[in-house]
Amino acid sequence: MKESLVIMRLNLHKQRGERMSGETFRCIATAAFGTEGLVAAELKRLGFRDARAESGGACFTADAAGIALANLRLRCADRVLILLAEEKCETFDALFRLVERIPWEKHLAMDGRYNVSGKCVRSKLMSVRDCQSITKKALIERMRKATGLSTFPETGAAFPIEVSLHSDIARISLDTSGTALNRRGYRTWNGEAPLRETLAAALVELSPWRPGMPLHDPCCGTGTLIIEAALRAAHIAPGIHRIFACESFPSFQKVDWKAIREQLQEDIDLTRIGAVSGSDIDPESLELARRHVKQAGLEGYISLLQTPLQELQREEPEGVFLCNPPYGERLGDRDSCRALYADLHKLQRRHPGWKLCAISSDPGFERAYGRHAARRRRLYNGRLECEFLIFE
Ligand SMILES: C[S@@+](CC[C@H](N)C(=O)[O-])C[C@H]1O[C@@H](n2cnc3c(N)ncnc32)[C@H](O)[C@@H]1O
Repeated sequence: MKESLVIMRLNLHKQRGERMSGETFRCIATAAFGTEGLVAAELKRLGFRDARAESGGACFTADAAGIALANLRLRCADRVLILLAEEKCETFDALFRLVERIPWEKHLAMDGRYNVSGKCVRSKLMSVRDCQSITKKALIERMRKATGLSTFPETGAAFPIEVSLHSDIARISLDTSGTALNRRGYRTWNGEAPLRETLAAALVELSPWRPGMPLHDPCCGTGTLIIEAALRAAHIAPGIHRIFACESFPSFQKVDWKAIREQLQEDIDLTRIGAVSGSDIDPESLELARRHVKQAGLEGYISLLQTPLQELQREEPEGVFLCNPPYGERLGDRDSCRALYADLHKLQRRHPGWKLCAISSDPGFERAYGRHAARRRRLYNGRLECEFLIFE
């Protein structure tokens, strides 16, 4: 079944009230700064009509099957969290009471491992460690009262719990993803400066490239950008080959994961990939790219070439160059990187029908390139503030 038909089917179920037949949850799909709107748009396309971007992600309402689908199909989000409680908390007592009110016995398995992570930003409660330990204490207290058990072995499946304080607002959530969603499963070998898969997917989305058009990454490294583009073109759900923490949650036991995965498998259409290719000067990076392409199930659908971008020549009259060139963050590297940015401009001039998109943390990129970008977007590559520039 094609993707549009799946969405149609899901929407039809939703209209009939079947899509959200079980208990619904308030959810947050967390996302890197600058990509929240893309995640909200992805959620809307998946049929979550109330999806709304907010700082750090997008919120939406879903039942367990919907959360499963979001985990499997979101390309740009980091994690899918169930928001269990949210309230202003300026004291540890207030935090304890908030956590104790959550019906944990409904969400957790008795033998689960309750792993609490935390973060505190601009709040009266700024000790992450204390917030984590109060949360855990209150959770165990609630579980004791609700079950009559005095101890919990914590030997079973992991239940990742997050306590976050932002401007004194405490949010307690259950992480349904477990391992972050960028871990699709195809990348087991890392190059020197690989791009996060979720950021690569966001760049593909922000670029003017659309499936069917030629796409080439002239400094492809380990291949993340072109793999993410090909996954998208072929309708391959990014999470199809991995498992999620919520697969062992009690409220997800009725989800037919097998049927959902089979349906997603049916969606795949490799013939939609078109001319997606990459090149790099470094043979070792290209070797990693080859392995990743194979592990993503895309062997034979992405061509890779060892060539310096200064010599690269594509045959197609139109297309998009999309790249993550070196930034020259280390001392002394910047000049050679800027020379490379000038070479990227020469590459575009050799291909008048092609657009060129690049992400860089170098504020001197456009000056070195020798042209102003037609469009730009501020993003973070890890901790590095970057700009994604589109030259038309
Ligand atoms: C930041 S890395 C790209 C990482 C890539 N996005 C990934 O996911 O692995 C930059 C790449 O540019 C390549 N490079 C540097 N100079 C080049 C040149 N003159 N021609 C082609 N590639 C070059 C490097 O070998 C390196 O793999």
